[in-house]
Amino acid sequence: MSVIDLRSDTVTLPTADMLRAMTSAPLGDDVFGDDPTVNRLEETAADRMGKEAALFVASGTMGNLLGLLVSARSGQEVIADADSHLFLNEAAGAAVVGGVQVRQVPTERGILSAAQVLAALRPDDDDHQPLSAAVMIENTHNWHGGVAWSLTDLQRLAETARSRGLAVHTDGARIFNAAVATGTDVRTMARHTDTITFCLSKGLCCPVGSVLCGPAEKIRQARRWRKMLGGGMRQAGVLAAAGLVALDTMVDRLADDHHNARVLAEGLAGLPGIDCDLSRVQTNLVYFRLKQADAASFLAACSGDGLLGGALGQDLVRFVTHHGIGAEDVQRALVICRDVLRG
Ligand SMILES: Cc1ncc(COP(=O)(O)O)c(C=O)c1O
Repeated sequence: MSVIDLRSDTVTLPTADMLRAMTSAPLGDDVFGDDPTVNRLEETAADRMGKEAALFVASGTMGNLLGLLVSARSGQEVIADADSHLFLNEAAGAAVVGGVQVRQVPTERGILSAAQVLAALRPDDDDHQPLSAAVMIENTHNWHGGVAWSLTDLQRLAETARSRGLAVHTDGARIFNAAVATGTDVRTMARHTDTITFCLSKGLCCPVGSVLCGPAEKIRQARRWRKMLGGGMRQAGVLAAAGLVALDTMVDRLADDHHNARVLAEGLAGLPGIDCDLSRVQTNLVYFRLKQADAASFLAACSGDGLLGGALGQDLVRFVTHHGIGAEDVQRALVICRDVLRG
């Protein structure tokens, strides 16, 4: 029985083209700045995002941490959605490494409004309070269901942040999903952020890696932080080679993942016992609640039939579509869910 693995888009495997590129990439010591393939990936990523420079890093978590470390210093605060990956899922790195506090703002759909940022802003003249230094955007927003920001929302937030001297960092782990879903070029979106991290290792199918993009001076500082954190890699061109193939060949096809997620979500919403907010299913993530069953036992029963997903709460399940999932897998997944719910 083949397994339908909907736990995450991080389970994707490198494509044949990536594996070929990885074995033939010219290499050097990247800590000396000598790896031509890493250099090419960084130049390509910076150009794609319309930024001066970029830095290849081990993970999205490291990219976000470096993005914050160059945007805020110890004792300062970054304003972020209360359900942001930064706050919930990055092991409190900003606090531990940077001494930076996350101001958690609850939002309806992961989209921070200008008014919410203004309300969360700290006064400069009160010694009791931390100083606000930065705002964090998560696009697409994971815990809110893969929701993509509109260009207008990005623009409003950036204008407000900049008018108050706040830096803007974007957790763009799935920024290419946002671009495909909204039909907006990533460069146009990235205009509204100072720094941005995107992941190569999720829907883009690379085995490892993320890229932090931003102004040359901030990227220079981030490179030093990366070294301090043990993230200076040597012949990392082996990995960067896959990233170059991903940027060339794997972006447009994300539309297929979005279509499969939509079909899956509509099928799930039609099953008795499932509550799925279709308005949030804009990209490759499908979150749904179980009305009667608990998520862990539902998924245990599904896995017995070869379907894997993630339990993200007592009754909350997440399925993620990706390169390894075809239209037939979606139909089979729906049959398995229906049968499991029937008991
Ligand atoms: C929105 C978001 N940001 C950041 C990350 C962190 O990426 P990584 O797992 O590469 O550290 C993830 C991972 O799932 C994510 O979903």
